[in-house]
Amino acid sequence: MARGIPSEVIRHFQAVPLFASVSKKGIRALVQAAAEVDVPAGKVLVREGEFGRHLYVMTRGTATVTRGGRKLSELAPGDFFGEMAFLSPAPRSATVTAYTDVRVMVLGPRELDVIVEREPAVAKRLLETMAKRVQTTGRSRRL
Ligand code: CMP
Repeated sequence: MARGIPSEVIRHFQAVPLFASVSKKGIRALVQAAAEVDVPAGKVLVREGEFGRHLYVMTRGTATVTRGGRKLSELAPGDFFGEMAFLSPAPRSATVTAYTDVRVMVLGPRELDVIVEREPAVAKRLLETMAKRVQTTGRSRRL
């Protein structure tokens, strides 16, 4: 137990690659900020063009990412999505749909802002992943 948080909950968060190097204090802040939600297969988690700034981390199942009806990618446990609108408020760049039954951690932008300011490793990972996604999407567009 760490200040009332069961150690298995702490370990569950530490197992997420995005949070791998977060301090104990940071993990405690994450546990308090995140809600874990079960979503049935086929349900849209975020829709292209809609507004929203939450960040989602997959902890179970798989999801597909599409833009204009075209598949861009598949997401699996450990992957996250929603970082683009979190980092720069704008309509969602793609639609993410649960392919199987899915479990996601949902982080609100205000709580995540505090975590990102305290934990540079989280900020770096969000930016690296976003850059890769922008690069691959740009490349596939030119094809
Ligand atoms: P956001 O624009 O907030 O909402 C849709 C999300 O889909 C986006 O953030 C990314 O997290 C994700 N996304 C966009 N493009 C790709 C891609 N090429 N590969 C994987 N995920 C993507």
